[in-house]
Amino acid sequence: MAIETVGVVGCGLMGSGIAQVAAEAGYAVVVREVSDALVKKGLARIDAFLQKGVERGKLTPERKAEVMGRLAGTTKLDELGRCDVVIEAVVENLDLKREVYQALDQACPAHTIFASNTSSLSITEMAAFTKRADRFVGLHFFNPVPLMKLVEVVRSPLTSSAAFDEAYAFAKSLGKEPIKATDKTGFIVNRLLVPYLLDAIRALEEGVGSVEDIDRGMQLGCGHPMGPLTLLDFVGNDTTYHIANIMFDEFREKRFAPPPLLKRMVQAGLHGRKAGRGFYDYGQDPPRPMAGLV
Ligand code: CAA
Repeated sequence: MAIETVGVVGCGLMGSGIAQVAAEAGYAVVVREVSDALVKKGLARIDAFLQKGVERGKLTPERKAEVMGRLAGTTKLDELGRCDVVIEAVVENLDLKREVYQALDQACPAHTIFASNTSSLSITEMAAFTKRADRFVGLHFFNPVPLMKLVEVVRSPLTSSAAFDEAYAFAKSLGKEPIKATDKTGFIVNRLLVPYLLDAIRALEEGVGSVEDIDRGMQLGCGHPMGPLTLLDFVGNDTTYHIANIMFDEFREKRFAPPPLLKRMVQAGLHGRKAGRGFYDYGQDPPRPMAGLV
């Protein structure tokens, strides 16, 4: 079944990025948020990203208008009933996801593929909310979605080979590099990334180095685009804390256990860049390491 129309549920940071790359790839896109204000905000985020691209000479104003023209916003899940694939990028709350999938299962035709952008919840468990577990996959994108090339395509034990191949080809058609993963919590990237990020926090707690030196070490010593503490602030310390807890719950292994400093930072609202403060204080230009963390 050829994919023509793509649905995206959730137009936050990840959902808006996914909607944008689908529209850029030529698909008609319907994106759903829970209120008109959030639909507007999500579409404005896409508009702003594309506008920056115009200013950087990456695309023309005509191309931007064409991409924006392929995006429709809605507050009604029913309107995703005309989509050939629906990607869900709502907050990582299983009860909420259950509601979304049960409504989508009613609204969408049998051929529609359901894909979750979850980074840590079970694809198998979500597939079981629907009557189409064979057409349910994970499509895990990375932040910032329009710039990061990777998509993890995740199969559950119930995913059919045909649906998996369609989802893999779809990810490729978005201009992304897909990799195949099975439904083990964290998939490939977070399985390796999360313990590394948590270890960077432990290194800070143990006085191995300063915030800046830990970051500079991994940037200059390993060629990473961002040091681990900058990356934690970028992803959101609350998000990493949540993912680490889910992974620790699943595997009961110490390497996934969130260190006390991360917990305290989340309790203190030091969620990272979006909160203005995390391992760095973003109220200063350039950002300075937060005082008093250890
Ligand atoms: N439109 C078009 N192109 C744009 C753009 C825009 N609005 N904004 C930036 N770009 C382009 C730039 O022009 C540049 O292109 P060239 O290489 O051709 O010059 C490129 O994107 C990089 O942009 P910048 O130079 O402005 O920024 P940078 O070099 O500092 O890179 C970054 C920014 C891509 C975010 C980089 O720092 C990076 O890769 N960081 C790591 C991000 C990461 O690890 N993300 C994964 C997080 S984990 C996750 O998401 C999963 C999870 O489950 C938690």
